[in-house]
Amino acid sequence: MTLQERDKKHLWHPLTQHKLHPDMTAITRAKECILTDENGKEYIDGISSWYTTMYGHCHPAITKQVIEQIQSLNHVIFSGFTHEPAIRLSEALIDILPENQNKLFFSDNGSTAVEIGIKMAMQYHFNKDENRKVLIAFENGFHGDTFGAMSVSGLSVYNGPFSDYVLEVKRIPTPDGKNTTHILDLLRKINLEHDVAGFIYEPLVQGAAAMHMHDADGLNEILKFCKEFDVITVADEVMTGFGKTGKYFASDHLETKPDIMCLSKALTAGVMPMAITSCSQNIYDAFYSDEISKGLFHGHTYSANPIACTAALAGIELLTSKDIQANIQRIIARHRAFGERIVSHTKVTSVRQRGIIFALDLDVEMERYGNLRDKLFNFFMDNGVFLRPLGNTIYILAPYVISDVELDKIYRVIELALEIV
Ligand SMILES: Cc1ncc(COP(=O)(O)O)c(C=O)c1O
Repeated sequence: MTLQERDKKHLWHPLTQHKLHPDMTAITRAKECILTDENGKEYIDGISSWYTTMYGHCHPAITKQVIEQIQSLNHVIFSGFTHEPAIRLSEALIDILPENQNKLFFSDNGSTAVEIGIKMAMQYHFNKDENRKVLIAFENGFHGDTFGAMSVSGLSVYNGPFSDYVLEVKRIPTPDGKNTTHILDLLRKINLEHDVAGFIYEPLVQGAAAMHMHDADGLNEILKFCKEFDVITVADEVMTGFGKTGKYFASDHLETKPDIMCLSKALTAGVMPMAITSCSQNIYDAFYSDEISKGLFHGHTYSANPIACTAALAGIELLTSKDIQANIQRIIARHRAFGERIVSHTKVTSVRQRGIIFALDLDVEMERYGNLRDKLFNFFMDNGVFLRPLGNTIYILAPYVISDVELDKIYRVIELALEIV
């Protein structure tokens, strides 16, 4: 029996309607940007396995450090205990985070990082005896699949069955360069009518909303408004973090820094699951008290796992290296040139880019999980490129180590795909 056949017996995959999509591609190994399946077929990983493996699969420098760590300390409880990998990671991460970030709280994945961000924002006010319960979020945002994260997410395709059991959230449109006054009016109204605890946002690029990109100046105005009214700002950088927007973090493009940041995915270079919610000293101070109940009583068993911390440290070493920074600039320039070429294609309505995140919209009606989307996906896979169209948007978010030859192949296959839609 093939792995694909054996998979069907017991496994239930994420975001999958198994009746419609019974066959999983069984990957047996991966190196740099290439995934190899059980039949030996190779695919360029054009989306870095959900935005994680930004330095390529099985990077030797990361592997070496992880192996060394595995031999000395695998895991230890992080409540009442600490260890060097977490301490070294905290020092390295604080060095590259926006200057106001000063404390790190560990968890396991993007959703838990968001959950903790929300709890920090709400309890910040609670600890100050203020009853603030309402959150503000962008329309069509995506922040994860746990209940708090679902509440602030706007994509109903994921949330439908649970919509009666979520936190109270008011939504605002993303800034497009023309609607800032309208958004600020809306914010003033929401803030007058409700006790607002926090504002959570994917800065500059909304990943699951098909790489929807928004205006930095407008977002900056929103953040300034929030600061004025002590509405805690929570930047969900789970997707945008660690170099993808051309700077270490999307928040680096903005003058007003968030109070809280949610990090995961590329944090550990796709080697281990881990997440961090970072915050400013001001947030931390609201929990620092003689009263035990004012602490943040949230904890995950694998918090700050030493192997994951080591992978993250090795990832940060690569991110800050001259080679990776040069690669990021190379990819940005290559995408720009491709965008200038493809935008005039009759099937393309628009292209957009922020750093190494590139997206184009097709002039075709396409359901998010519909047949045409599947046809496109299968065409890419048949041609050795793993891309995951989101509705009628095709996007590229490839590892920083992708070669020009591999990029050319992705561009060529996309151009061929335009002929079949
Ligand atoms: C912006 C953002 N936040 C949170 C999440 C949830 O992360 P996870 O899937 O690790 O729970 C995602 C996942 O894609 C994301 O893109």
